[in-house]
Amino acid sequence: MQDFPIFPDQASTVAWQVDAIYFTLVALSVFFSIAIAAAITFFAIRYRKGNNVDRSNPMEENTVLELSWSIIPFILAMGVFGWSAVVFITIRTPPVDAVEVYVIGKQWMWHAQHPSGKSEINELHVPVDTPVKLIMTSQDVIHDFFIPAFRVKQDVVPGRYSMLWFEATKPGEYHLFCAEYCGTEHSVMVGTVTVLEQAEYENWIGGDAADEPLAVAGERLFTENGCISCHNGEPGAIGPPIANETIFGETREFEDGTSLTVDEAYIRDSILNPQAHIVAGYAPVMPSFDGQLSEQSLLQLIEYIKTQ
Ligand code: CUA
Repeated sequence: MQDFPIFPDQASTVAWQVDAIYFTLVALSVFFSIAIAAAITFFAIRYRKGNNVDRSNPMEENTVLELSWSIIPFILAMGVFGWSAVVFITIRTPPVDAVEVYVIGKQWMWHAQHPSGKSEINELHVPVDTPVKLIMTSQDVIHDFFIPAFRVKQDVVPGRYSMLWFEATKPGEYHLFCAEYCGTEHSVMVGTVTVLEQAEYENWIGGDAADEPLAVAGERLFTENGCISCHNGEPGAIGPPIANETIFGETREFEDGTSLTVDEAYIRDSILNPQAHIVAGYAPVMPSFDGQLSEQSLLQLIEYIKTQ
């Protein structure tokens, strides 16, 4: 049973928090199930046919009892809700200094792409005691990235980026599963997450000089696809500046008076559906690159724009 533990390791900072909620819910459920089953059994025996007991059932009022069996469950339910909400927000809010890794799901494998250029299939190497943020998308259908030992799980959806973060607390190897039925070989869409000591990780991530950093590949795409001719930042340029310009995390104002923060989703939309948001002061002339760039190329362009 060693490879199929009923209760996986607790190997991330949130694992014990998720488990604490889980066990509290189990304890509450067991307590109330036993109390209700005991009451049913008691009344079934006491009021069984032929047993000589008082069945007059007079009306009785007991305000204290009425209030307590309304208020106590209310406090328990709201307590569990508030506590879970705090843990949920923790799980959904990545620290700003997190190490970023891009993940592409496809039938039926996981492709991880590190900004350094290192890429891996059905494996993910991460440093211990360091927050890691995954920016994930799918090339075909919905998948779901699940690391039981870290108690984190997130759908990976075609056409958009979803985010998952964790901080591993113990070096070792952990299971990675696809947790969304995605076709005939869903069950083999599995992998290994390897948590390395900091020094080992540095060694691993920088190990191969032949790896081309994502931002460098992105810069090449930026030139090859002609983005540079409009987004060069020169006076009179057709598009808003991107090359040599910090735009990631900035606010973009649009022609229609709305605005958005430049993030991965905004950049992706701007490349695939440029007419959706026209930056104030520019004409809607950019062609769509929908169908011309792979998910991987999009991520390379995003990483290039991020590092400007
Ligand atoms: Cu991918 Cu199931």
